[in-house]
Amino acid sequence: MRKDVRILLVGEPKVGKTSLIMSLVSEEFPEVVPYRVEEITIPADVTPERVPTHIVDYSEAEQTDEQLFQEISKANVICIVYAVNNKTSIEKVTDHWIPLITENTDKDSRVPLILVGNKSDLVEHSSMETILPIMNQYSEIETCVECSAKNLKNISELFYYAQKAVLHPTGPLYCPEKKD
Ligand code: GTP
Ligand code: MG
Repeated sequence: MRKDVRILLVGEPKVGKTSLIMSLVSEEFPEVVPYRVEEITIPADVTPERVPTHIVDYSEAEQTDEQLFQEISKANVICIVYAVNNKTSIEKVTDHWIPLITENTDKDSRVPLILVGNKSDLVEHSSMETILPIMNQYSEIETCVECSAKNLKNISELFYYAQKAVLHPTGPLYCPEKKD
């Protein structure tokens, strides 16, 4: 069985990566956040899948490309965060983030991706219409979720999906004999 799970959050500046992590940990929306929070480790007994889980933040303002590439190569699952009210942040998912991740991960080890649409409190309309074609185009994308760090909506679900993507992948590497 896997020892632990390492979740990395990437995405354009200001989409709410740090806010999502802090909302999960403190169960309330932080009005003021630093650019980046230190890696946090959630002990096995309080995670849904009973596996120690590391959550890693990324901020362009505080980290070099080299540091980002290193974190990408160490991650077991990567959440690409966009803001549902920011079209550019959605375009960057396919124009920038997926190619960058592909370049920095081992061709043979499939790293599952999760598309995270944050700030759902700010819009009436779901971003799913835009996201579904992307989901269909890239088999690495395990699932997508819309959430709000502000309303605490779907926050614990998001991190549960990330854990699950690593522990019970549904993609091409899924191997029935290894099922527990
Ligand atoms: P960088 O570290 O610069 O890459 O940004 P980030 O992706 O970590 O975003 P951050 O958490 O700093 O949030 C950016 C802004 O969006 C802040 O003003 C947050 O308060 C706000 N914000 C984050 N999540 C939400 C949300 O779910 N809803 C709303 N309305 N605002 C949010
Ligand atoms: Mg940040």
